[in-house]
Amino acid sequence: MNQIIKGFSKLSRGEKTEILKKHFHLPENFSEILETFRHPEQQELFDDFSENTLSNFYLPFGVAPNFLINDKMYVVPMVVEESSVVAAASRAASFWAKNGGFKTNIHNTLKKGHIWFKWDGPKSFFEELPEGLEEILREAVTPLTVNMEKRGGGIQTMEIIPLDGEYGIFQLQIGFETVDSMGANFINSCLEEMKEPLKAYFNTNKDFKQYGDTEIIMAILSNYTTECLVTTSVECPIEALSAYSAGLEPAEFAQKFKQATDIALSDTSRAVTHNKGIFNGTDAVVIATGNDFRAAEAAGHAWASKDGRYRSLSACEITDNATFRMVLTLPLALGTVGGLTRLHPMAALALEMLGNPSASELMGIAAAAGLANNFSAVASLVTTGIQKGHMKLHLSNLLKSLNATEEEQKAAMEHFKDETVSALKVKEFLKR
Ligand code: MEV
Repeated sequence: MNQIIKGFSKLSRGEKTEILKKHFHLPENFSEILETFRHPEQQELFDDFSENTLSNFYLPFGVAPNFLINDKMYVVPMVVEESSVVAAASRAASFWAKNGGFKTNIHNTLKKGHIWFKWDGPKSFFEELPEGLEEILREAVTPLTVNMEKRGGGIQTMEIIPLDGEYGIFQLQIGFETVDSMGANFINSCLEEMKEPLKAYFNTNKDFKQYGDTEIIMAILSNYTTECLVTTSVECPIEALSAYSAGLEPAEFAQKFKQATDIALSDTSRAVTHNKGIFNGTDAVVIATGNDFRAAEAAGHAWASKDGRYRSLSACEITDNATFRMVLTLPLALGTVGGLTRLHPMAALALEMLGNPSASELMGIAAAAGLANNFSAVASLVTTGIQKGHMKLHLSNLLKSLNATEEEQKAAMEHFKDETVSALKVKEFLKR
């Protein structure tokens, strides 16, 4: 029966697990499994990150060394569950470190927030911001902005923009500089604090009031951070690609690589997978440093569609048949203070491993990891294919899931050294 569980959040953890056991077909040892993955000393901290926390969900925290980014060497922490991602990033990092490394460029770090409102007057009223409005709104949030301003941030821009094609709906768009914090809480707090003064301004000003009352619809930051953009690139002489070309002539490899990247620029089906390969690296760094990977993904995919069609985020250029270059540009709103970044002990450690970077520096590192994974993936696709390497790493997971003994695992590793791995083949091998 689809029975509602009332007051679940108010129950103790023990009561929660008991009630779940009653309502659902759960394993006998449900509570023991949950208990196994709870932290003996720091659980209170993890419990408070979210709600209804019963236990923790472990993901591997790995590292990719040898990332040379803007002439500085990093060991990059990566949190990702997929085998091959860290290996691919590490291999690409070493290769590019020998070939000049990654060059990154931060275009801007501005974030936007909007107060959406309804007003039935003409759009022409907002060609410029109404007189005195900016001062009123800034004043209303002074207690919130004073500290941010001390750190070099605060409100940078304000404008009112009509909603495309809709009559009577507008956004007050505010540009925020949040320095080293991702700034979501700061931005949302400022926006919510401005709602009332904005409404009062319009509803008490007779020029606006003649068209009726203004109604606030909502106030929220935008995760489409088109002005918080990073570009990262790598470049080498084509000859140097022999290390990656798996027996192909470097020039042929470079051409095939470019063709594959160009396909992802034109074909959406391929572009999605190509970009997924970029986010394999980028998200792993975003997660390891306690940042919001959903925000990074949402912004990245919207950016990939900015000209009306979903395309690859990276591009490949070959100049004078001599130089190979890859470029990736994406919006990435990251923080190195605030949020979970210093609260989660592993995120704090990850940031320490990176030398406690600024938010802009971290944008460059996460983008470089994305480009490294993208380079490795496309290089495999146009040569050996990805399955050979991937399934080797997958083999050990497969063996564990099939409860292979240590001896069987060893034998299987040896057996599949020169053979393509598949789940069926591994099962058959174990049976034999
Ligand atoms: C797998 O996680 C990622 C790839 O599919 C990316 C790509 O196809 O470019 C290998």
